[in-house]
Amino acid sequence: MKLLVTGGAGFIGSSFIRHLLESHQDIELVNFDCLTYAGNLENLSDLCTDSRYSFVKGDISSLIEVEEALNQEVDAVINFAAETHVDRSILNPSAFVRTNIQGTQVLLEASRRRKVSRFIQISTDEVYGSLKESGRFTEQSPLSPNSPYAASKAGGDLLLRSYHKTYGMDVIITRSCNNYGPYQFPEKLIPLMILNALEDKPLPVYGDGLHVRDWIHVTDHCRALAKVLLEGRPGQIYNIGSNQEEPNLEVVHQILDDLGKSHELVQFVEDRPGHDRRYAIDATLIRTELDWSPQVSFKQGLAETIHWYQENFDWVNNVLSGTYRSYYQQMYENRDETLKGL
Ligand code: NAD
Ligand code: TYD
Repeated sequence: MKLLVTGGAGFIGSSFIRHLLESHQDIELVNFDCLTYAGNLENLSDLCTDSRYSFVKGDISSLIEVEEALNQEVDAVINFAAETHVDRSILNPSAFVRTNIQGTQVLLEASRRRKVSRFIQISTDEVYGSLKESGRFTEQSPLSPNSPYAASKAGGDLLLRSYHKTYGMDVIITRSCNNYGPYQFPEKLIPLMILNALEDKPLPVYGDGLHVRDWIHVTDHCRALAKVLLEGRPGQIYNIGSNQEEPNLEVVHQILDDLGKSHELVQFVEDRPGHDRRYAIDATLIRTELDWSPQVSFKQGLAETIHWYQENFDWVNNVLSGTYRSYYQQMYENRDETLKGL
């Protein structure tokens, strides 16, 4: 089986490529990625000598580049490529529309023309919006996105639905909760807090810190995706979650405790606009239909992730050597600029 994996140089895509090559001898993979700030080939440096793996630099919103990649006659496309950070989507929504909606449509159209047998879209629970204290998202929950990121992912999902209904394409959508683990770009909550704590810098917690996320280790997510690829039903949506809900402040405290640092490093900062209060996933369908269940407990996975970041400072320095600044820094700097202009 030959696969085109888009966005394979990112956090989850690289973990998926490693998982498939390790667990399936008969798989060949082309990693198609335009290498944004979040894409880093170093994530896969251990695989560059594997003859079943190759890399093509390209953008999913370019029909020419996608069609050229599909000349390799792949059996399935798995689309991880996306702009993924909510805070960036607040500052620059258009990049999200371009990649997550337009790019998805280009990829779908090229795959349809080339008669690719299966198309998997890696989506997110954020398309469902926000929950109150109780309840969980099922695959039937209405789409109710609140951030430009979530809205652009929901747009991509709807295009998949339309290609299934209109052209009969074999498409599957997966919607996972928040992932954590090695190689996650340090703008997301867990790696950002680990690195700030290691350097005794303040840990910026948005609002009251009581927003709840359901956390899944990236390897559990990738095992679920392999099952969906090989055994999933055409036209189906599969929620992927591990039932490990934590308020942000609790996660931050666990990181500080693991590193033996003071809780006084926590700095409550202005809330994110449109901040979803709670996500929680009902993953009954994938558990029962595809016999998948998560293996990594949050406590163990978080401790291992902290250890990985401590041991991989070179990787951290390399990925941060670009123009990266955290959302909070950017907001803070913009505010200074605005004040200066008054
Ligand atoms: P990431 O930001 O780490 O990586 C995204 C990758 O896509 C990068 O390698 C980047 O270079 C590539 N890319 C971006 N725009 C592209 C384009 N136009 N053409 C080709 N490549 C492009 O993201 P991630 O955290 O690995 O997320 C992967 C997918 O999983 C995304 O679709 C995201 O919406 C989804 N998802 C992520 C999470 C999470 O917690 N991280 C949870 C649920 C779903
Ligand atoms: P994030 O990792 O950006 O994922 P998402 O917004 O897609 O769930 O954020 C996870 C949670 O952590 C979210 O409730 C926002 C919060 N957060 C902070 O409190 N401070 C931060 O610096 C960041 C990046 C996130």
